[in-house]
Amino acid sequence: MIVEAAPAKLNLALHVRARRTDGYHELETLFAFVADGDSILLSLRHPGENRDDEFVVSGPFAAALSGEGDNLVLRAVRAFDAAFGPGGPLRIELVKNLPVASGIGGGSADAAATLRALARLRGIALDEPALFAIADGLGSDVPACLLGRTAIGTGRGEQLVPVEGLADTPVLLVNPGIAVSTAEVFRRWDGVDRGPLPEGPLLDRALHGRNDLEAPALAAAPVIGDLLDALRSQPGVTLARMSGSGATCFALFDAADGRDAAGAALRERGWWCLETALV
Ligand code: C5P
Repeated sequence: MIVEAAPAKLNLALHVRARRTDGYHELETLFAFVADGDSILLSLRHPGENRDDEFVVSGPFAAALSGEGDNLVLRAVRAFDAAFGPGGPLRIELVKNLPVASGIGGGSADAAATLRALARLRGIALDEPALFAIADGLGSDVPACLLGRTAIGTGRGEQLVPVEGLADTPVLLVNPGIAVSTAEVFRRWDGVDRGPLPEGPLLDRALHGRNDLEAPALAAAPVIGDLLDALRSQPGVTLARMSGSGATCFALFDAADGRDAAGAALRERGWWCLETALV
């Protein structure tokens, strides 16, 4: 069996520069990844068994995905088979540890991990350009999740330049338990270009950067404002910000004990918290 990690993605900064004519927005973003996330477990079904692929979702957020007919994992399998020829039949298990529709790339990370797992199964190099082309067709964040390392993203987020990360920085992720529609948050953006990502070392770029989707997400889900206020008031926080289109927010800490204390305090408020670290 192939076990492939699908780490949560963060946008340390996300600058929305322009509306495009194709329905997307021109972005400049700092992608980073943490040590925890979902997992994809992939194996070939026993010969002679049913020829169909079997797809199972487990984990704490499995129920949130039930009813979603066209999961990104299955779309990734179909796109992979279309590009490389059909394989299988497969058994795929998605262990859903991350809240869905929450700005930390859950579905995109799952799709990217599925592509990596299939590539391993078929002996295809992980830097194969065709894999990135498939990822691009599955969603704006899927190429970044396929790369899986700190990078500057431009275009709709699919043009990537890797940068040196902030490995081992303690991070707390907090989600208020509401799903936010990415398309709706982008639609609410006010159209004002507030300028490019700052230059300099990564932490400075993040600290002096912004998430331009915070205001429109807050308009759709005011609880995000409470969550950001609560995060910013925790001792030891160096940066607190919303990730992606929300509603998950993150805080970087100067030490793990501050992160853990903040996690304990914010969990008391009924919010989902994940104590982790940048990779
Ligand atoms: O690419 P993906 O399917 O993940 O995007 C979901 C939605 O988010 C798009 O349909 C679009 O409305 C919005 N989006 C955007 N600009 C981007 C990325 C996503 O407007 N750069």
